[in-house]
Amino acid sequence: MAAMRSDPSPTRLELLRGVPGFRGRTDRELAAAARLLEEAEVAEGTVLIREGADGQQAYVILEGWAAVTVHGEPVAALGPGQFVGEMAMLDRGPRSATVVAKTTMRLLSIGPEAFESFTGQPDITRSIARSLSERLRRQEAGQASNESSAQLKEEQ
Ligand code: CMP
Repeated sequence: MAAMRSDPSPTRLELLRGVPGFRGRTDRELAAAARLLEEAEVAEGTVLIREGADGQQAYVILEGWAAVTVHGEPVAALGPGQFVGEMAMLDRGPRSATVVAKTTMRLLSIGPEAFESFTGQPDITRSIARSLSERLRRQEAGQASNESSAQLKEEQ
């Protein structure tokens, strides 16, 4: 992955401003946050995260899209403003999914130190908690419909 400048450019601040959890921050606060992050550009097809692996790196997507698969099955597409790789950082478990760049992507890479600092900030923690909650809700709704279709099949 090609690491790029670490000096926060104005566009980088604008992009960061669009990330839930960073909204409403002053330029100064955004610049301080951006300095903790490394910007990276990855080509389409790059495996950002491999299911089952260890990993202590999360990302904020600035531009582009990634596909998330679990046991080879697509579960989600993630795009600008979204966090990826935060689960293993939170619970120190193995990676829950494989994440592959579907386009060229620009990312901000969040190492353990920056993650520690960000998760001490209520807005960011709330935004991560919200996305985990949405994910769980979607998953449970999916499971419920799978269960009911399995039940329907059994009853037929
Ligand atoms: P992590 O488990 O560290 O590594 C894989 C990442 O894929 C995970 O963190 C989440 O960021 C993301 N991910 C896993 N499952 C889903 C899902 N169902 N929907 C969206 N993103 C997911």
